Amino acid sequence: MNSIEVRSLSKSFGDVKAVDSVSFSVKKGEFFGLLGPNGAGKTTTINMLTGLLEKDSGEISILGKNPNEDWEYVKNRMNVSTAYFPISDVLTVRQALNVYSRIFGVKDYKRKISELLVKFELSHLQDRRIILLSSGERTRVAIAKGLLNDPEVLFLDECTVGLDPDIADKTRTLMREYQKEKGAAIFFTSHYMFEVEMLCGRIGFMINGRLLNVDTSANLKRIIRKTTVEMVVKEGRAKLLRDFLLEEDVDVLFMEDNRVAFEVASSGDRLYRLMNKIFAQGFKLSDLHIKRPTLEDLFIKLARRK
Ligand SMILES: Nc1ncnc2c1ncn2[C@@H]1O[C@H](COP(=O)(O)OP(=O)(O)OP(=O)(O)O)[C@@H](O)[C@H]1O
Ligand SMILES: [Mg+2]
Repeated sequence: MNSIEVRSLSKSFGDVKAVDSVSFSVKKGEFFGLLGPNGAGKTTTINMLTGLLEKDSGEISILGKNPNEDWEYVKNRMNVSTAYFPISDVLTVRQALNVYSRIFGVKDYKRKISELLVKFELSHLQDRRIILLSSGERTRVAIAKGLLNDPEVLFLDECTVGLDPDIADKTRTLMREYQKEKGAAIFFTSHYMFEVEMLCGRIGFMINGRLLNVDTSANLKRIIRKTTVEMVVKEGRAKLLRDFLLEEDVDVLFMEDNRVAFEVASSGDRLYRLMNKIFAQGFKLSDLHIKRPTLEDLFIKLARRK
């Protein structure tokens, strides 16, 4: 049984098709990433899955249940964290977490809250009002809130925004440990490609409300078929190298002073064979930079194509 199952989910705001017939599933214990430009429909999708927003059409199943029919069951077993979560400003950190514990029916909530305060380095802030927290501290409260009920399905919508690198790293580690220990399904959005790649088994790209290219990051990067190579050539032979590359049918990107940049197919041994030929021709290099395709390259390519 999939933890999240979505079929032909759609939502429009006036003329804007925010989510356009989206289908996907997330397995138990899977860390699933959703990438997409601003306004792609990621948060709208999460809001429909977590009951914050009514769908126009389509089917949602969480832990095998229809949330509309079994809301109490589903609500107590899922949670959502986002850096932008609206938490009441007048409450203190502990008071706010108390309130959410009641909403999610957390039994031993005092112990659970203390444990999360320690995990997210918030113990010293527990009696401070939310309005007085820094944005990163507030985000940590939102993440702690997301784990209050030990959710089997957890939505993390840009949950590491505004965290300093140290806390962001600790948060990612905690999330991964949580996913492994509990076998939770985690649905993760972020604009930081490296963390999506680090955490997520499968990644989906959402653009203009449509979900495309759901795959592992390794497979997704194959869509960008080119590796870029930049060489700094010794003995003023850059122009000769450029001519040699052109003869070899290589796409030369530019030549400038003693630098030559070109593209080759990422798959197969094309680059390896080409390098051997270059050295066999007696070219000497004083620097070499090989840039393999990244998820960011793919993101930019897909986003610009829209
Ligand atoms: N309540 C609303 N009323 C009208 N339009 C909305 C509403 N909520 C979202 N939209 C629109 O729906 C589209 C999708 O927005 P959404 O917040 O889901 O994008 P997103 O992928 O989460 O973007 P970001 O990366 O910026 O968070 C956008 O065009 C947005 O302006
Ligand atoms: Mg969003």
